[in-house]
Amino acid sequence: MRNIKAIIFDLDGVLVATAKYHYLAWKRLAKELNIEFSIEDNERLKGVSRMNSLDIILDIGGLTLDNDAKIKLAAKKNIWYVEYISKLTPADILPGVIDFLESIKINGLKIALGSASRNSMLILKNLKLTDYFDAIIDGTKVSSTKPNPEVFLKGAFALNTPPCQCIVFEDAQSGIDAAINAGMYCIGIGSKNILKKANLVLSGFSDMTFDKLELLID
Ligand code: BG6
Ligand code: MG
Repeated sequence: MRNIKAIIFDLDGVLVATAKYHYLAWKRLAKELNIEFSIEDNERLKGVSRMNSLDIILDIGGLTLDNDAKIKLAAKKNIWYVEYISKLTPADILPGVIDFLESIKINGLKIALGSASRNSMLILKNLKLTDYFDAIIDGTKVSSTKPNPEVFLKGAFALNTPPCQCIVFEDAQSGIDAAINAGMYCIGIGSKNILKKANLVLSGFSDMTFDKLELLID
């Protein structure tokens, strides 16, 4: 039995379904650039930083731009994205998340966020989730993006917990790689067929408590 002391959550796709808003904002930008951008292409952007996402889209369109132009485009996309996430409310929290967070607290574990998003604080505030977190490490606090383990290692450090006593919840392959690279037990949220490298995969948090989880992890 592992001696788990802390849980680190990715945000997008784990606590809230924001991928559709990223998609709508990127799609609008791609249209302006005359680039075909599909919902399948959007899958490749999960867990990927804003600038790296833009690079993938430009690559799809065979477009090369200088850094200044890219910064402007990424900022434009973010304005549209923020319009969507500004409307998020606690009703948008994914099923079972609140009860699971409560059960972690009751068991005396610490909780951190480990997200690539530079909009994490706004999203957590609108979902009214901020107070659950003992540490928040987001895209504004790291220099390397997933699969680099920096975001999770900083989370563990902020919680004063060794990586081997942390569990990470992730929905993106790059995030699962980051957790494994950090030496943490990684639980994928999504499909077993896609998140093959995770130690365990769950479809979501419905009916999940920390006590039930302890019986599932090896
Ligand atoms: C990740 C998302 O959590 O955050 C990615 O999965 C997104 O799709 C990345 O690109 C960065 O988000 P933001 O909010 O800083 O543009
Ligand atoms: Mg995610």
